Amino acid sequence: MMPMNQQDFKNKLAQHESAIQSALDSILTLTPQTGETTRPRSLIEAMRHGALNGGKRLRPILMLETAALFDAQNEGIMQAACALECVHCYSLIHDDLPAMDDDDLRRGKPTVHKAYNEAEAILAGDALLTLAFDLMAQDITHKSAEVRINLVRGLAQASGLGGMAGGQSLDLSLSGNDINPDDVVQMQTMKTGALIRYACEAGAIIANASNEDQQRLRKFGEIMGLAFQLKDDLLDQTSDAKTLGKAVQKDADKGKATFIRLQGMEDTQSQAHALLEKGKGLLQPFGEKADMLLAIAQYIIERKQ
Ligand code: IPE
Ligand code: IPE
Ligand code: MG
Ligand code: MG
Ligand code: MG
Repeated sequence: MMPMNQQDFKNKLAQHESAIQSALDSILTLTPQTGETTRPRSLIEAMRHGALNGGKRLRPILMLETAALFDAQNEGIMQAACALECVHCYSLIHDDLPAMDDDDLRRGKPTVHKAYNEAEAILAGDALLTLAFDLMAQDITHKSAEVRINLVRGLAQASGLGGMAGGQSLDLSLSGNDINPDDVVQMQTMKTGALIRYACEAGAIIANASNEDQQRLRKFGEIMGLAFQLKDDLLDQTSDAKTLGKAVQKDADKGKATFIRLQGMEDTQSQAHALLEKGKGLLQPFGEKADMLLAIAQYIIERKQ
């Protein structure tokens, strides 16, 4: 494996971002699809506000790049990657609601409940989540129904009770209480780790990788998911709202359960580095094919946004 030239890395990220943006744009249209009655204008507008507002697209990019390890690249993989991004965008819309983190700014713009209203934001989240499963189950995603069922089931588990939604519930119940490291790892593995883990695992599944490789990438995703949340917590402390596109200094104020609260910023930083090293080790067998994934892993803990 070779460290990638920074300019090449930036170009490749930008290419991915614009391909994902245009795929999402054509998915989130006003025109009803087969089986639908109509698409209410106010709801599709709220969904578009929450999904087409310039995220980093890390999860779909991870899915595209893990599939690329096995030379798989086609419109079905882009569709699966967009489905995952729809789940992520829904999770952000709901995370920002007054009943949860109560945030007004997301990706540099008003949150969906601010731009529209709370009811529409709840529904936009609901509709993005369910749309994701519709997209994932469509024939175009993968020709094998068995593979599609694996993808759908994996997405359900990563998003739901034992995954992101469960993790968000733990986040709320741990806030303001005494915390221990195991609880924080479990909560972060679920609320953020599960979707990032799934991004990597799904890339391997959709590319028909061996079970061993699927497991390896699942592990890589799990580790990088944890590192990602550690960095998110660090940025909440060290960055500013203009750079980050969302409010900062919220976690300490709200008594959120973070590693920073447990052990301070320096230890949290070194823990993120240790996770990166572990993640890199898991990519070793893929040689130079993993150069882009390696660069993404580095970016996860070095990013400014
Ligand atoms: C933010 O995720 C929420 C967390 C899970 C920590 P991202 O930092 O990936 O958000 P966007 O998609 O780039 O806006
Ligand atoms: C959110 O974690 C994780 C999700 C499942 C959306 P945070 O609450 O820390 O995410 P930000 O900082 O608001 O993006
Ligand atoms: Mg939150
Ligand atoms: Mg939040
Ligand atoms: Mg945060």
